[in-house]
Amino acid sequence: MKQVQNDSQSICLIEVKCTKYLNFFVKSLGIGALTEGELMLVLDGKAVSDSVRESLIPRIQGFFTNRGRAPHLTVVVVGDDKASHVYVRNKKIACEKIGMESTIHALPLTSTQKQLTQLLEKLNADDSVDAILVQFPLPAHLSSDEVLKTVSPEKDADGLTFSSLGYFYAGKPIVSPCTPAGVMTILKHYDLAIAGLNAVVVGRSNIVGKPMANLLTDANATVTLCHSRTKNLSDITRAADLVVVAAGKPLLLGREDFKQGAIVIDVGMHGSGLGGKLCGDVRFDELEGWAKAATPVPGGVGPMTITTLLQNTCLLAEKRAGLQPS
Ligand code: GUN
Repeated sequence: MKQVQNDSQSICLIEVKCTKYLNFFVKSLGIGALTEGELMLVLDGKAVSDSVRESLIPRIQGFFTNRGRAPHLTVVVVGDDKASHVYVRNKKIACEKIGMESTIHALPLTSTQKQLTQLLEKLNADDSVDAILVQFPLPAHLSSDEVLKTVSPEKDADGLTFSSLGYFYAGKPIVSPCTPAGVMTILKHYDLAIAGLNAVVVGRSNIVGKPMANLLTDANATVTLCHSRTKNLSDITRAADLVVVAAGKPLLLGREDFKQGAIVIDVGMHGSGLGGKLCGDVRFDELEGWAKAATPVPGGVGPMTITTLLQNTCLLAEKRAGLQPS
């Protein structure tokens, strides 16, 4: 339908466009921000991820020159879970793209705990293996706790073994858990200052929520950790300068749950959004003109998780080889 505009409507349109361009101009100069109707900064995790992966290539080449081989990640997957096999294949492809070596050990669903432990002990002792990751979830008859006790912290690419987490929570990480560390990399890349912010983390998993709260605390934020039993969640998130949502519930939070000018990080990834589209835990479409900055889904936190795994592998390989990580 063709729209007929009178003069005042045209002027209004021009004003809106000018404000948009002025906002963009002001932002690109980094000299401050317009508040009313400000354009939201979309935190492009894919771009950050590409640049971090690029930065790993000379380190991998340096390692190769020194050791005569590339850093080597070994991934163990048990059973037939389709999603797990896709994730594992993506990790292998990511390694290959930047010249890292990777091996997948796909064990049958009938594998016993003893067989899994024996494989992990063999990989711990194998000098050609720098980093180990066991893909979760494991089949129900296997214990993830046993895995987290067995993988050597010096080879723990995930940073999730009990030993690794001990070092991490004591403030002496060998490596940090991939997803929360990836979030910190995105915040740093965009120069978003964390110190002094009131931060809220929604979700208390060992993989994301708890280590995320720890990293934000270490970055001098004042952190509140919320979870499924939290009362008045929205009141708490609405008071926060920075909210990291890792609740595992599609489209749980929207504009009314955040304060104007908040930074919103969405760790969710679901294949069941509106119209079957990929979506996160946050209704991203509602945030423009309200949040200061936010991660989209897809293309936000997701790409950084594998990238941090590559970084961790590189770091573990360099440490084992006695090379100074660059
Ligand atoms: N499954 C889902 N997320 C993760 C992760 O971060 N590490 C491992 N090992 N398995 C997962």
